[in-house]
Amino acid sequence: MLGLHFILLGFQALSTALTSHGVAFYDPTQSGGSMLDNAGGGGGEPLNVIISGLSSPAVLTDDGILHFAQAVGFSYECLGFHLGDPQSANLGDGNGWVNQTMELRQDYGDDEIGTCLETLVGGNHFRVYRQNGTAANSGALFLAVSQEEDLAEGHTIIPDGYNIGRDKLVANAVGVTSHEYTTYSTVAQNLTGLLAAGSVGVNHGIATDGMTVLLTVTIIDHS
Ligand SMILES: *[C@@H]1O[C@H](CO)[C@@H](O)[C@H](O)[C@H]1NC(C)=O
Ligand SMILES: *[C@@H]1O[C@H](CO)[C@@H](O)[C@H](O)[C@H]1NC(C)=O
Ligand SMILES: *[C@@H]1O[C@H](CO)[C@@H](O)[C@H](O)[C@H]1NC(C)=O
Repeated sequence: MLGLHFILLGFQALSTALTSHGVAFYDPTQSGGSMLDNAGGGGGEPLNVIISGLSSPAVLTDDGILHFAQAVGFSYECLGFHLGDPQSANLGDGNGWVNQTMELRQDYGDDEIGTCLETLVGGNHFRVYRQNGTAANSGALFLAVSQEEDLAEGHTIIPDGYNIGRDKLVANAVGVTSHEYTTYSTVAQNLTGLLAAGSVGVNHGIATDGMTVLLTVTIIDHS
């Protein structure tokens, strides 16, 4: 039984490799982009997590990232309620500055109404940007992850909120997770040198350690 399972996993890994874009991501800063998004008001949020273009292709679609996010404790915003303007990012892929594709919030264990709680009490959230312009078409998703204050504090980012938000998301994501019928296996790799450590250009002047975590997410079961 176990042996057969591993053969099936191997086959799935092979078919995934054949249909993916073939590269984890392209460094936006090498082609006119930035690893800080544009939060308005002059600063930007660090793109501190990348979902690798070598992940299962089904993870990299809009529905796919939502389902994966739900497997690691996030969901869509409270009843479609949205606070604040969208931010934009330039991933150096030739598309220029593009608004976030979506914004997901910690769901406190309930896909439907949990994010309402996040909206009230604060918590982890992230914005999603897709690197798919023809100049750097990795299909990777760049995430700006941060831990927020509660609504009374105007949903600003907590001190050290970029590092904390990233580390919490990564801790939830690594290993085997599942949501409804889909099971994921996720591996993390720390990347330095993409973002500068410190607070230069960072929204709210919150310093970061400059690390971006690359997550490779593989669907290992879907039944
Ligand atoms: C990005 O969002 C802003 C604010 O909602 C909007 O005014 C603008 O048209 C959007 N840009 C694109 C290209 O959709
Ligand atoms: C690239 O990603 C954006 C944002 O998710 C999407 O709106 C657009 O359709 C994608 N372009 C292609 C060519 O797939
Ligand atoms: C990444 O860095 C963090 C903190 O610096 C560390 O705890 C973690 O083990 C590292 N992860 C990997 C995959 O090297």
